[in-house]
Amino acid sequence: MEKFLEDLKSKGLYRERRLREGLLDFCSNDYLALKDHPEVIEEAIKALKEAGLGSGASQLVSGYTGYHRDLEEVLADFKRVPCCVLFGSGYLANLSLANLVQEKDLILSDELNHASLIDGCRLSKAKVLIFKHKDYQHLEELLKDHRKNYRRCLIVSDTVFSMDGDIAHIPTLKKLAKAYDCMLYLDEAHATGVLGKEGRGGLEEFMECWEDYMIIIGTLSKAIGSYGAFVCGSERLCQYLVNGARSLIFSTSLPPSVCAGAKRALEIIKENPSMVKRLRYLSTKIYKKIALIGLEVAFHGTPIIPIMVYQEEKAVEIRERLLQKGIFLQAIRYPTVPFGKARLRLTASLRYKEEDIERLIDALREA
Ligand SMILES: Cc1ncc(COP(=O)(O)O)c(C=O)c1O
Repeated sequence: MEKFLEDLKSKGLYRERRLREGLLDFCSNDYLALKDHPEVIEEAIKALKEAGLGSGASQLVSGYTGYHRDLEEVLADFKRVPCCVLFGSGYLANLSLANLVQEKDLILSDELNHASLIDGCRLSKAKVLIFKHKDYQHLEELLKDHRKNYRRCLIVSDTVFSMDGDIAHIPTLKKLAKAYDCMLYLDEAHATGVLGKEGRGGLEEFMECWEDYMIIIGTLSKAIGSYGAFVCGSERLCQYLVNGARSLIFSTSLPPSVCAGAKRALEIIKENPSMVKRLRYLSTKIYKKIALIGLEVAFHGTPIIPIMVYQEEKAVEIRERLLQKGIFLQAIRYPTVPFGKARLRLTASLRYKEEDIERLIDALREA
């Protein structure tokens, strides 16, 4: 352990948790400022008083309540899919990938997919091939060369890439999935509540519809401001997951209060689609200010604004200087991003006040 830790320190990769209290947080995923919305809190407290703190068991034992079922229905409606199943977290939801494919199957995965997708692929017994980031020509080459050798094929991609903020081209992914008889698995953790006119996600953004070869996962922990995750698709998929996804079967279900709060958060987004538009406007505004002080932003177009620093030690140094000014902007380093591509992952959130943004820009300029 000591050797491992010393090695990390020497490469500028050592990590420590920070208490965020008292700091201006510019790196959370609470894009729509819903985690402490008064109506969300009120609903959660009501459920907490009624149903208690923990759910007490897994979904298949006695941990499935009306709070869980109601949230699944609201989510299915929001994502415009027939059916939805809750999971304990996005990480757990993506581990269920392993149960969707078997030995004679093939997974094609974007090289910048989230670590939980990578782990889901690793846990599976299927053959896994990686295609270059958003390089759909490369994906098609792999399909041409390998698809015929496998029984089933699953194409896996983030919709919004978590550390870069860029967006997968869903129409192309759909076209390839159909042409080569594949299932398409989209991780909408950072797309839900963010993309599309009403925040419904990647399909709405590209004016596409769900089709029955598609599996969509999302988290409740980002723009929805809660905790947990969901997988949605066909009725059969949901029945399959309830019977076959080990990370659902062998894990305690979400606390009812968390479901109640998340359901209210979704209703708030549905009732106020202008929130999504405001978030988009704010993201562009912050991006422009960052660009104006001469910093390099890898991509702009979503609330994830990665300020590129490249060198690991330098990213940590800048983070420390910002912390001294009360600004919390986390340095993201290997293995979360490739080595030599360290960055400060700035995110836009409706909770920022005008003066907060000015404080951030001044601190960044100086740092
Ligand atoms: C794209 C993506 N998928 C899945 C996850 C995991 O979600 P959770 O934090 O709910 O486990 C994350 C969050 O970090 C993510 O960014």
